[in-house]
Amino acid sequence: AIPIITIDGPSASGKGTVAYLAAQKLGFHYLDSGALYRLVALRALQDNIDASDEMQLAEIAGKINFSFENSLVWLDGQNVDSAIRAESCGEFASRIAHFPALRAALLQRQRDFCRLPGLVTDGRDMGSVVFPDAALKIYLTASVEERANRRYKQLKEKGINASMPNLLQMLRERDQRDSDRALSPLKQHIDAQLLDTSSLSIDEAVKQVLDSYAA
Ligand code: CDP
Repeated sequence: AIPIITIDGPSASGKGTVAYLAAQKLGFHYLDSGALYRLVALRALQDNIDASDEMQLAEIAGKINFSFENSLVWLDGQNVDSAIRAESCGEFASRIAHFPALRAALLQRQRDFCRLPGLVTDGRDMGSVVFPDAALKIYLTASVEERANRRYKQLKEKGINASMPNLLQMLRERDQRDSDRALSPLKQHIDAQLLDTSSLSIDEAVKQVLDSYAA
């Protein structure tokens, strides 16, 4: 079987960075599944599709032509890397991610990333739904205060001055939406190891993942 490491967890936990670096160290492929939800959101925003239109959103999910070349995200050959990272896009993605038809349309597209020599992937349901047979499943989290801190610094680096109370509220709302949905809710999967990174550096978190994989 092709080795897979899944890293699921809440918004701004750092799972994307940790998953990416672990993939680099192992020479594995990397899938940021959240980027797929953001790509669907971006196309829907561009085409004025309503956030309640499950069928149209699922159609977009099945059809969009994307790639992740050169560590950038491309949609129809256009670099949309910064466009999909916009807060408006993340917000829309989080509002549409509960639709079963949309999630179903993305399922095989995510599984297509499983290729030799292996895959590290991050998201909400990678270990529970998309890759249930993964060799290692991690639930990576951090306190909501620490996640707000990290997002604050990330935005600051981009020259954006966010407010901590707003970030905290945004994360709490996002957590609730991700956890409360009926399909593929965010929670620690029974097979997943808990990795609380509240007081860990990125390198320490990556090391823990690699140590668990080697064990
Ligand atoms: O920045 P954040 O971690 O919130 O976003 P992300 O990981 O890029 O994912 C964007 C949105 O897609 C999240 O708010 C989730 O609701 C949704 N998502 C999902 O439902 N399942 C996944 N496997 C990945 C993301």
